[in-house]
Amino acid sequence: MNSDETVEELSGSVFIDPERWADMDAWYADVDRIRSQRPVARVDREGFAPFWALTRHSDVWDVSRNNELWINTSNVVLGRDADRERAQAAGMPEPASLVQLDGHKHRSHRAVTANWFKAGTIAARQGQVDAIADEFIDKMRAMGGECDFAADIAQPYTLRAIMNIYGVPRQDEELMLRLTQGVFGAADPEFMGDHEDPLEAVVASVMDFIGYFDAMTEDRRRCPVDDLATVIANAEVDGAPMGDYERLWYYIIVATAGHDTTSFALSGGMEQLVRHPDQMAALATDPALVNNAADECVRWATPVRHFLRYATSDTSIGGVDIPAGGRVLLSYPAANRDPEVFSDPHTFDITRPDASKLLSFGVGAHFCLGVHFARMELRAMLERLATQLDHVELAGEPEWATANFVSGVKHLPITYRFGD
Ligand code: HEM
Repeated sequence: MNSDETVEELSGSVFIDPERWADMDAWYADVDRIRSQRPVARVDREGFAPFWALTRHSDVWDVSRNNELWINTSNVVLGRDADRERAQAAGMPEPASLVQLDGHKHRSHRAVTANWFKAGTIAARQGQVDAIADEFIDKMRAMGGECDFAADIAQPYTLRAIMNIYGVPRQDEELMLRLTQGVFGAADPEFMGDHEDPLEAVVASVMDFIGYFDAMTEDRRRCPVDDLATVIANAEVDGAPMGDYERLWYYIIVATAGHDTTSFALSGGMEQLVRHPDQMAALATDPALVNNAADECVRWATPVRHFLRYATSDTSIGGVDIPAGGRVLLSYPAANRDPEVFSDPHTFDITRPDASKLLSFGVGAHFCLGVHFARMELRAMLERLATQLDHVELAGEPEWATANFVSGVKHLPITYRFGD
């Protein structure tokens, strides 16, 4: 913690500066201070339109659920105002994926895949996910007792799971990984590829996604199959084919939102299980704990760091006036460590009775569409790790991605031994 910083200085930095996300213990200590002194904190930082950061669970919950008063708009992720203009000047189409749509347009577009993602439909994919989890456990065995769990297992496992239901062939997974990281991790030098400027990486990734998914649309229109790409390629909204931009952004959100998020939930949860062998053992002896354990991993890691919302009329939160057009930042990790809701919030505990109150998947009209699939992937891997690993320990210090939108443990060196 930088205890010499004022709460104003802290608020102006912790939600924005990518490097703050590389040390999560310090981040949470800073945010505890902000929440207790200024739970609705105005941030006015040069280069960024002002916003109010919400760090209380109750405020994030209330705003997320009031989708008339608080709308998303096309600008839901914090970035420099000038970067948005530069992205548009560089030819990047205006973002129009589900999280950037509101009202009827949002509902009608969400309806396109809502059935596909509901619990019952996703349950039919259990066998596919189990087979992929087995494949990555085999990979861990073959690696001979030492790996970077985040990069070698969590990332390719979650990528394969989503690409499998999507219908992206294995030989293109590498490309999807690079493009996803280009969009989400662009501030982390490790994920910028050949680009020196993070914005360049984002624009280039979006343009490459466009080329890839245009070809996929043509293919699935010619030869429809049982995959998600076919549903999106042939979708109709209000009786007409989905618009080209909306279709493109639909592909991008499923490809990106469905991957790094789950990967960081798994690597962040695994880091804690490795640090707490008693909890790994508890999960091995009582597999029924796996549902709660998966939620605790997602609460703990909170891979989506924020979304923005805009007031449609003058309002106030916790006594702080916010004018129409004013914007708030929903800090999901801060909400997930709010002591008003979670007892002993900074303790990882797979048996905690309040784990299901997590806000990692959001709430309200935009509640994560992939929640059932994400939980299925996490459970499949956690139960295998807990029941098959005999011993596991850290082989070095974990490293966090430096990005303020989607981030988490990007390197987790471990040594381990499987039982027979
Ligand atoms: C642990 C993993 C995941 C986390 C933490 C996560 C988190 C989130 C969050 C915070 C939102 C916005 C919620 C809101 O505004 O209230 C969201 C929306 C969304 N997520 Fe996830 N997600 C995860 C996995 C997935 C997966 C696996 C998929 C797809 C297969 C997916 C697809 C989506 C989509 C399409 C939306 C937009 C929904 C809308 O705006 O109507 N997510 N997710």
